[in-house]
Amino acid sequence: MPLIKLEQVTRYYKTGQVRVEALKGVDLAVEKGDFVSIMGPSGSGKSTLLNIIGALDRPSSGIYELAGKRVDKLSDNKLAEIRNEFIGFVFQSFHLLPDLTAQANVELPLIYRGISSKERRRRAVAALESVGLGNRIHHRPAQLSGGEQQRVAIARALVGEPEVILADEPTGALDSRTGEHIMAIFQKLNREQGLTIVQVTHEEDIAHYGRRIIRLLDGEIEREEILENNTGSVSEVSG
Ligand SMILES: Nc1ncnc2c1ncn2[C@@H]1O[C@H](COP(=O)(O)OP(=O)(O)OP(=O)(O)O)[C@@H](O)[C@H]1O
Ligand SMILES: [Mg+2]
Repeated sequence: MPLIKLEQVTRYYKTGQVRVEALKGVDLAVEKGDFVSIMGPSGSGKSTLLNIIGALDRPSSGIYELAGKRVDKLSDNKLAEIRNEFIGFVFQSFHLLPDLTAQANVELPLIYRGISSKERRRRAVAALESVGLGNRIHHRPAQLSGGEQQRVAIARALVGEPEVILADEPTGALDSRTGEHIMAIFQKLNREQGLTIVQVTHEEDIAHYGRRIIRLLDGEIEREEILENNTGSVSEVSG
């Protein structure tokens, strides 16, 4: 059973008289342990697709199953539960809370689960250490570099032990060397912990860290490439 399964998923937006067909019938299956890069021109539906996979949005029609459960018709509250339990998000612009330390930002997803503050702290520090930021736990976002902020965001995505990490242009705001470091972290999580990752990117080099590339065009999957030899020689993941 695939972890993520979409069948003939569509998403239409209506603005005034204009109907935009952002997704026109997408079939997609992602197995546990896969690392998928979604590419395609601006407006091709990449973020729309990722938002549906992440239970931030619902399809207009079609079937979506996550870990064997239908999620396409769930209420907003149920979708929020699914997000909290199954999904870790990473965004282009990090989305960290500026007044909180790195540790407090990473603890946030655990607060909704009613975990004790001592246990939250332990898990947040461990997640920050796993992305090489054990020496930055008391820094606020403005005191961190872009790459460090994105690593805090990855630690926050990891701390709830999600089934899948979804990343919308995770390296889009970073220089290429820092972007490679973020990809090295993703690849390590995927290879060593079997974490499932689905990322959207505009950059071919970044896409090639995945195990396959799905190319979207005009709301449809245009083609798919399996990467036999996904970028192997990644630099050491460390602080
Ligand atoms: N909330 C919305 N209301 C109306 N139309 C929308 C909405 N969100 C997206 N669209 C339209 O749906 C289409 C797909 O948008 P989407 O954001 O998925 O593209 P994308 O592939 O992520 O593009 P980019 O690379 O620029 O981020 C676009 O034509 C967009 O204008
Ligand atoms: Mg987008």
